[in-house]
Amino acid sequence: MAMELNKEITCFAPGRVNLIGEHTDYNGGHVFPCAIDMGITCDAGRRTDRRLRLYSADFPQDGVREYDLDAPIMQGCWSDYPISVIKTLAAFGYELETGADMVFSGNLPTGAGLSSSAAIEVLTGVTLRELFGLPLTDQLTAVIGQFAENRFIGVNCGIMDQFASAMGREDCAILLDSYTLSYEYAPLKGADIVIVDSGVKHSLASSEYNLRRQECESAAGQLGVKSLCSLTPDEFERRRHLITNETCLKRARHAVYENQRTISAVNALKRNELKAFGELMNESHFSLRDDYEVSCAELDVLADAARHVDGVYGSRMTGGGFGGCTVNLMVPDAVQPFTEAVTKAYKKRFGKEPVIYRVKASRGAGKIKM
Ligand code: GLA
Repeated sequence: MAMELNKEITCFAPGRVNLIGEHTDYNGGHVFPCAIDMGITCDAGRRTDRRLRLYSADFPQDGVREYDLDAPIMQGCWSDYPISVIKTLAAFGYELETGADMVFSGNLPTGAGLSSSAAIEVLTGVTLRELFGLPLTDQLTAVIGQFAENRFIGVNCGIMDQFASAMGREDCAILLDSYTLSYEYAPLKGADIVIVDSGVKHSLASSEYNLRRQECESAAGQLGVKSLCSLTPDEFERRRHLITNETCLKRARHAVYENQRTISAVNALKRNELKAFGELMNESHFSLRDDYEVSCAELDVLADAARHVDGVYGSRMTGGGFGGCTVNLMVPDAVQPFTEAVTKAYKKRFGKEPVIYRVKASRGAGKIKM
């Protein structure tokens, strides 16, 4: 370890993969993500002074980052994520008694659409909660992570990623109503989740994400509703003429129908109709590609190759888009032929191999028992 610390505890926060319900969480709609068995770990200890010392094994070149607990100044590197959570905790009235040392390490690729940002935010909240006995529920820890990202990192993300990382449950995905924050767990049985990383790095902050959000808000304004997903597809069809801008109309159509697809998909899952679930995943991808315009050639090739493999229920891009990963649902026996088929198709078109992860829906963030 490149930093000495008085280690008192170790915590873990998982990444997430979203099965369906994309770009609905800031439109008051439903999402259906699960926490995965890949994530970030933090070894931490309290200090006697008011310094914060942070180190990440994923960014050794950045060395130990030091901050003053009473006036932390952003430094333009990875440690701004935990610092943004510490600033948010203070803004919410949760002051830390002393400084702390925190050492991060993990197996979650960054910028791949598996929510490494949300994982480190939730991990920071959970670690400090455990270290200083802060009275935070898991749900509030997720809200604090989202607030930190919105206010201090400058990405106007929804609540999905932080919620999944904080609230995950083994072998289940979470149906979350992002408007009310009510949620239920739905067991995932009889299918394997396989993630394929295109290797194309996305940059959410690079305006497109925030732009989509603005376009949706503009569409909602023209429709006279607070949020797009408060409309059923029928209601939307009756009012869509009110939207004058073609781009805003397409964004709105995606959000309204994606919300409906998410509810239908979870109902299909409850009836154990995995084929129907997979078809809705495929439709989600087409809508993200054509109406929301957040896919890219690499993700389209991966999803298309997947759909041609026997035993694959569905395939789609997952997360914000513009690169990152696809999520694929399949019968366990299909994993091998699937791996071969998508690797071959990707290599043929782009001259490189994608990275493939077979994951399990897992528990959310918490202290690791020693
Ligand atoms: C990112 C955001 C989420 C969500 C997805 C798109 O992952 O952090 O809040 O909006 O994009 O579904």
